[in-house]
Amino acid sequence: MIVPGKPVTARLALCALRDLPDPGSRGFSVDTPAGPLDLFLVRQGAQVHAYINRCPHTGAPLDWVPDRFLSLDGEHIQCATHDARFRIGDGLCVAGPCRGDRLQPLELWVEAGRVYLETETTDD
Ligand code: FES
Repeated sequence: MIVPGKPVTARLALCALRDLPDPGSRGFSVDTPAGPLDLFLVRQGAQVHAYINRCPHTGAPLDWVPDRFLSLDGEHIQCATHDARFRIGDGLCVAGPCRGDRLQPLELWVEAGRVYLETETTDD
């Protein structure tokens, strides 16, 4: 039963899992029920993490070229503007000007080899 005004989860298809480099990253610009959203995925084997593409330091996008969000050694997410480094698993900044802040995570669903973004909307 759908209750008017109650949040409803919707799934937005992003890509096939095989289309993500492993290990590696990829950026997306999508339209969600709440509006346009820039995000990126980081894959490490079966693990895929999603974050909004916005650095907590200034709000700038993190990638220095399209789809490049990782440090050269692949150990961290790296901001292109002032070099902040973030843990891949939870988005915590561990080095740089916003140490202790976090990237904003997004919910994902992986099913039958496809990656979906989970978004919430209200069904008014
Ligand atoms: S904008 Fe990302 S570290 Fe400054």
